[in-house]
Amino acid sequence: METRIFRIDPDNIDDELIAEAGRVIKEGGLVAFPTETVYGLGGDAFNRDSSRKIYAAKGRPSDNPLIVHIADIEDLSKVAYDIPDTAYKLAEKFWPGPMTLILKKLSAVPDETTGGLSTVAVRFPSDVIAQKLIKASGGFIAAPSANKSGRPSPTLAKYVIEDLEGEVEIIIDGGSSDIGLESTIVDLTEGIPTILRPGYITKEDIAEVTGKVDIDKTILDDSSKEAPKAPGMKYKHYAPSVDLTIVYGENDKVVSYINEKLLSVKDKKIKTGVIATSGNLGLYKADVIKDIGLREDELLIAQNLFRILREFDDEGVGIIYSEGFKAEGISMATMNRLMKAAGGKEVFL
Ligand code: TXA
Ligand code: MG
Repeated sequence: METRIFRIDPDNIDDELIAEAGRVIKEGGLVAFPTETVYGLGGDAFNRDSSRKIYAAKGRPSDNPLIVHIADIEDLSKVAYDIPDTAYKLAEKFWPGPMTLILKKLSAVPDETTGGLSTVAVRFPSDVIAQKLIKASGGFIAAPSANKSGRPSPTLAKYVIEDLEGEVEIIIDGGSSDIGLESTIVDLTEGIPTILRPGYITKEDIAEVTGKVDIDKTILDDSSKEAPKAPGMKYKHYAPSVDLTIVYGENDKVVSYINEKLLSVKDKKIKTGVIATSGNLGLYKADVIKDIGLREDELLIAQNLFRILREFDDEGVGIIYSEGFKAEGISMATMNRLMKAAGGKEVFL
């Protein structure tokens, strides 16, 4: 299949291109599009064949449910039922935005879209291109992140092109994602609201609205024997071929530990890399050193992570060390993704 690339300026949206992309989705085709979190791979949420195509294009197991994207809070009641008040309170505060709610699924949503689950994930993104596309396609786009299964979520259209060119009808290039990590997922189907995946909207943000909030135990503990409640969180993510270790501790100790380790693999002819905060850039003796941002700049660090993991992949770096971050606020999301990339490999000094 020949993939068409639509470059759309978010400040001056070409409505004809949006209308064409919307038509493709209505007819059962797939369109990759920007959102404020990461790029999504979209199809008609009510069309089971579209959902099947999404799984095929991503190379993703079909038991891993998709998120239904809407562009109007009222549309929540067209995909979910028994919607608790907390859902509307959270929606009023954080939608449109990087939050996904898990609710009971109406039967109108095909099982293919939710991986056979009786619940449905719903999100109303703030990205204007995404909103216009959702409206143009009939109001309900099922979309996972627009990467091949196992690769980091794409924060730039060029990564979507790398992963999905030839497998989708259209890729919309709307520039770089503002947040760079996927949405916060909140399960509202069982008593206390529970965060299944941390994101830009933090536990504290959610608690301000709901009072109590739980966190799925598996979020920061890869060794947990329990299965995560968001099926997608069980997979080892992001460049599984790479040997990545996270190192926590006092700054000086972290730098010397990582340098010692780098020295010990020098003869192996494997390209080495370090994910470093800006203040430490000059201190490491690796082949490739990536600046993830100032330690105080939580959001910039979140934005940079997936791009850096992809760059290491592209540059053939085989052994990576990363500085660790305190899993609080937005950094809880960063650490969750970094942990998945590391497959739980951590050192505490
Ligand atoms: O920011 C985002 O959420 C991006 C953009 C494109 O909107 N989308 C995204 O989709 O990250 P995806 O498919 O890569 O991740 C969705 C996660 C998966 O871990 C999946 O298992 C979980 O949401 N999920 C979806 N439906 C669920 C449900 N009914 N119950 C529990 N977890 C669910
Ligand atoms: Mg994903």
